Amino acid sequence: MSTVDSQKRVLSGMRPTGQLHLGHLHGVLKNWIRLQHEYDCFFFVADWHALTTHYGDPGLFESNVLNMVIDWLACGVNPGSASLFVQSKVPEHAELHLLLSMITPLGWLERVPSYKDQQEKLHEKELDTYGFLGYPLLQAADILIYRAGYVPVGADQVAHVELTREVARRFNHIYGKEPGFEENALAAIKKMGKKAARMYTNFRTAYQEQGDHEALEKAQALLREQQNITIGDRERLFGYLEGGGKMILAEPQALLTPSSKMPGLDGQKMSKSYDNTISLREPLEHVAKKISTMPTDPARVRLTDPGDPDKCPVWQLHQTYSGEDTKKWVMEGCTSAGIGCLECKRPVIDAVIAELEPIQKAAEQYEKDPDLVRSIIAEGSEKAREAAKETLHDVRVAVGLG
Ligand code: TRP
Ligand code: SF4
Repeated sequence: MSTVDSQKRVLSGMRPTGQLHLGHLHGVLKNWIRLQHEYDCFFFVADWHALTTHYGDPGLFESNVLNMVIDWLACGVNPGSASLFVQSKVPEHAELHLLLSMITPLGWLERVPSYKDQQEKLHEKELDTYGFLGYPLLQAADILIYRAGYVPVGADQVAHVELTREVARRFNHIYGKEPGFEENALAAIKKMGKKAARMYTNFRTAYQEQGDHEALEKAQALLREQQNITIGDRERLFGYLEGGGKMILAEPQALLTPSSKMPGLDGQKMSKSYDNTISLREPLEHVAKKISTMPTDPARVRLTDPGDPDKCPVWQLHQTYSGEDTKKWVMEGCTSAGIGCLECKRPVIDAVIAELEPIQKAAEQYEKDPDLVRSIIAEGSEKAREAAKETLHDVRVAVGLG
């Protein structure tokens, strides 16, 4: 059994619904790439989640899944640092989803804002389904099965992480009172060694008798440092601190993805549904063309009309791609009609191309060797399964199916 610390685990997923674009690179992938060095990361393709809305397009998955992982790899997600896998290759998610469904009140799912929103937005699809209602609970299972402490997501997903916390709490409340809990906790304390055991006991007493919250935090930090106890014992001791039962499932926190400043070609958020994207595999001539024909400040009809960068989507691209000198040059040149819009776009075009070129080269290599990508996925799925099985074992025992 491992002694992995949920505070070090990060999990996130993406649905394979199409080509990734610059919005994904700047909004999600750069964040993942940063996190992979600091945490024990699990990143996966949420193909079952895609099926909840795209159940009518079975042809969509095979190539989308592979291409999505190719994009991740090409952008620098490193399979040596993070486990990359496909949800449907880890069937433990489905079993946990089923078991959690037994204790999840219907009202909790009906109240998740994305449920009604998406049903309305995607009204051409029949989404009055059991699977679609269960979307956030499946997501909760994705997260809880790894006992992930942090879940990097955009603002639209925060409600799903909140639901996950509630489900974990309810599960622990119902099933956390194992027979012999007290004896097991005392045995676990001994396993930490004399010094740590004494510190833990003193902190616990200070918290329970004087409500000393600092002592509680110190005890929690102490538990996180322990190398020689199992994750089960650790959760038990977390529970014992506060007097409750064993914490079988860990409550995760959303790690809000810093909102990407990446605008689309029309100045709105870059998104496939607005048809304003530059995809990561866009041929570079198209990239140049798309940016050259982007709208600019509508007040600049002629070259001699001064403009206002704040009214121009190109200026937003400069925020992502240009240094201070270039931005100063744009600001002065635009407001004084000293530069033309095409001239102004040039540094952005060059920067986007410079960014995409190595990504596309890397993607090409992976495209030529799909077996390599498949083996990366197989290996990541294997690692994920090992971690998932451990949690599922504890869950089965807790619900009486051990
Ligand atoms: N629902 C997420 C989205 O649409 C994808 C997802 C599925 C996910 N399971 C997850 C994200 C678990 C984070 C953690 O973007
Ligand atoms: Fe936009 Fe640049 Fe043209 Fe000004 S000069 S309107 S910032 S493209």
